[in-house]
Amino acid sequence: MTPHDAALRARFCEAEQGHVFRFFDDLSADQQATLLAQLRSIDLALVKRLIETHLAADKPPHVPLLAPGQVIPLAADDAARADERESRRIGEEALRAGRVAVLIVAGGQATRLGYDAPKGTFPIAPISGKSLFQLHAEKLCALGRRYGKALPLLLLVSPDNHAPTRRFFEQHGWFGLAPSDVHFIEQGMLPALDRDGRLLLAERGRIFLSPDGHGGVYRALAASGLLEKLKKRGVDTLFYFQVDNPLVKVADPIFLGHHLRQQSEFSLKVVAKRDAGEKVGVFAQVDGRPGIVEYSDLPEALREARDGSGRLLYGAGSIAIHAFSLDFFARLGKGTLDLPHHLARKKVPFVDDTGDVVTPSEPNGMKFESFVFDGLALARKTVAMEVARSEEFAPVKNKSGEDSPETSRAAQSALFRTWIAAAGLPVPPPEGAVEIGPLLALDAEELRARVGGATPGGPLRVLLDGA
Ligand code: UD1
Repeated sequence: MTPHDAALRARFCEAEQGHVFRFFDDLSADQQATLLAQLRSIDLALVKRLIETHLAADKPPHVPLLAPGQVIPLAADDAARADERESRRIGEEALRAGRVAVLIVAGGQATRLGYDAPKGTFPIAPISGKSLFQLHAEKLCALGRRYGKALPLLLLVSPDNHAPTRRFFEQHGWFGLAPSDVHFIEQGMLPALDRDGRLLLAERGRIFLSPDGHGGVYRALAASGLLEKLKKRGVDTLFYFQVDNPLVKVADPIFLGHHLRQQSEFSLKVVAKRDAGEKVGVFAQVDGRPGIVEYSDLPEALREARDGSGRLLYGAGSIAIHAFSLDFFARLGKGTLDLPHHLARKKVPFVDDTGDVVTPSEPNGMKFESFVFDGLALARKTVAMEVARSEEFAPVKNKSGEDSPETSRAAQSALFRTWIAAAGLPVPPPEGAVEIGPLLALDAEELRARVGGATPGGPLRVLLDGA
């Protein structure tokens, strides 16, 4: 052991984490090097804070003061529609000027879907089976064509799924994007702790680490050096979404317009919750600041509460689509403004004192993640805008039931059917799958402009890709 490594070991012992060296002397030189590298990446001061925050039994949990959030409603009258047109004009101007980059968070583990590959590679288009990544990338290509300026694509990946994600893009010719416009940003990893606050070993020579949450994107992006490059290129706005939603209107100009007109630093889209029990975060005022309250943190009485017209008081469901100013990202990326870490109790296989791997039947470990939307409280100005679920939100989260591949494909077909009707084309029967590729049309108006009035000769497959 070099003096440097001995000092590292001493620091871990001092922090009462010396057990991670329990099997060190029996490891091969390579295994020792791997373990030491992992240990060097662990922020012991942060681990100490996590223990103090989440293990101190004498600390009563903070109960925040909640109030409903202010949301721009769906445009329902002429004045609202005129305002929307003005926002679209501003948003389109920004896109034509190349001021917008797209950020997709795709570093998660797709555990609930039970899919053993990066979620973005999951086939989701109703007929072609195009993957989530392909649909998102094709939307970027179509936008680049429409506005005459390519949009840089930033993908948040984890050390676990970085290589397969990059390979997928390479193998598919980058889905038509310029490789130099696609940037992979690796997020950080955090250790899990047992009930006593001790780091867990996944193997004798390996600490259990998992992705640090999408809140890790602020630091990861700042550390990547990309912020400066984007700024030089003239980008000042980021359009953000989660990889799991094939219906996202990428770089929606109306949304970008609202964001820019109000000089917002952090904007978000919401939909009316399906029902009180839908497991989405809700936009609210939290201790007097804008925030998103996760489903599990919203007290049941508030979950069910309704206003005079019968609408859920806390019914503004976040669909995790945001716009950010690049400057806000830079400010948070410095790391001086700390986001909280949320705790999840999970079953974490671990090596016990005798060196055997134990697979627990009950949650034994505490995993920690920071959330990008906790940044809302730190933004100088925020804007929330309501959108129609049927047009913008059909996520793939579970293997079956709600928010599954089946419901997502059905929602895509249903939306495309409305576009076909609006273009004056014969509408296919409700039970069949329908698909309109992003390269043919990004929305109903574009479809109408391209094929309206024409009668497609064959089945609707004709419409699939026609770019
Ligand atoms: C999320 C939101 C919820 C929102 C819902 C809408 C959180 C905590 N909650 O729930 O408020 O209503 O989406 O669909 O986000 N990810 C990373 N790195 C990580 C962890 C996650 O990139 O370390 C990415 C995932 O790849 C995924 C996204 O973040 O794209 C969401 O993660 P997930 O934990 O699945 O959140 P949801 O439960 O879907």
